[in-house]
Amino acid sequence: MIYSKIIGTGSYLPAKTVTNYDLEKTVDTTHDWIVSRTGISERHVAAENEMSSDLALHASIRAIEAAGLKAADIDLVIVATTTPDHIFPSTACVLQDKLGNKNAIAFDVQAVCSGFIYALNTADLYIRDGQAKNALIVGTEVLSRILNWDDRTTCVLFGDGAGAVVLQRSDTPGILSAKLHADGSQRCMLSAPGQIRDGKIDGEAFIKMDGQGVFKFAVKSLSEVAEEVLAANNMKGTDIDWMIPHQANIRIIESTAKKLGLGMDKVVLTVATHGNTSAASIPLALDTAVRDGRIKPGQHLLMEAVGGGFTWGAALIRW
Ligand code: ACO
Repeated sequence: MIYSKIIGTGSYLPAKTVTNYDLEKTVDTTHDWIVSRTGISERHVAAENEMSSDLALHASIRAIEAAGLKAADIDLVIVATTTPDHIFPSTACVLQDKLGNKNAIAFDVQAVCSGFIYALNTADLYIRDGQAKNALIVGTEVLSRILNWDDRTTCVLFGDGAGAVVLQRSDTPGILSAKLHADGSQRCMLSAPGQIRDGKIDGEAFIKMDGQGVFKFAVKSLSEVAEEVLAANNMKGTDIDWMIPHQANIRIIESTAKKLGLGMDKVVLTVATHGNTSAASIPLALDTAVRDGRIKPGQHLLMEAVGGGFTWGAALIRW
């Protein structure tokens, strides 16, 4: 059997941080309100000249180095992002060029906060089908560019960053399975609905959100898809060593962990210092826990995410 296995991780956060106390000075909010409702204390914000591909490049170099490979060894680049550098070409093509790689096929995946799970599943299928050997999968976001910094209901939630993994063909698993879902009828609950027309944005290009609707949808869909991926492997929540959730809101994460019977000591948390970095949040959290030694060979990891679209999904991994 052919499987795929993560052999290297990397991440990058822009230097600038914006704390809740900074936001108190610009919108009608408080540190205590943000922490109690979301668990977020600060977030990173990209510099003026930093694009999604720049954040992705830093994270990718670290992941490729951790994998013991060279950029030229990569034969598939998938970038998950909601904030691409350009309308086109894809950020994956920009990244491929910045890496100095000419051997890889390259494309973007747009599934908002579920983007990394969608991209991981896609790369796993390419590898198991024999079409790729070393895949670079990146979640990268400069969400600060599509936030209305005067809207306290959204600007406190999000941050910028990138995370990357190298997925390699392997004789042993690896990715045990992944389950994906989408429901486009719910797309208005969370969107940046502007359109490009006559060279200009027509309508609202900032993130708009029904916070309570998203919260309820997230809590339901995440526990269901987590149960689904566990059942496909005859496993229970208590068999999981580490849950690496999309870092949107501590209360959503706590609710999912509780439904799975998992203690919070088994959950990798970065939401307090990263905020919600959409497609980047899972690989950022994964890299954090790999590099600090929490994740060890043979352990079982559960990743889950939900995002605009709506899209949602989960992946089960043996490390
Ligand atoms: N500071 C202070 N008050 C605020 C803020 C703020 N930043 N934002 C909203 N409020 C106010 C509201 O205006 C409202 O005031 P009112 O009662 O006078 O009308 C009050 O706080 C309560 O608002 P709610 O929307 O009911 O607050 P809630 O407890 O639902 O928390 C939140 C809002 C944090 C957005 C929550 O609904 C949530 O986390 N939803 C999930 C959203 C999410 O995670 N989105 C990310 C993208 S999707 C994803 O990644 C899963």
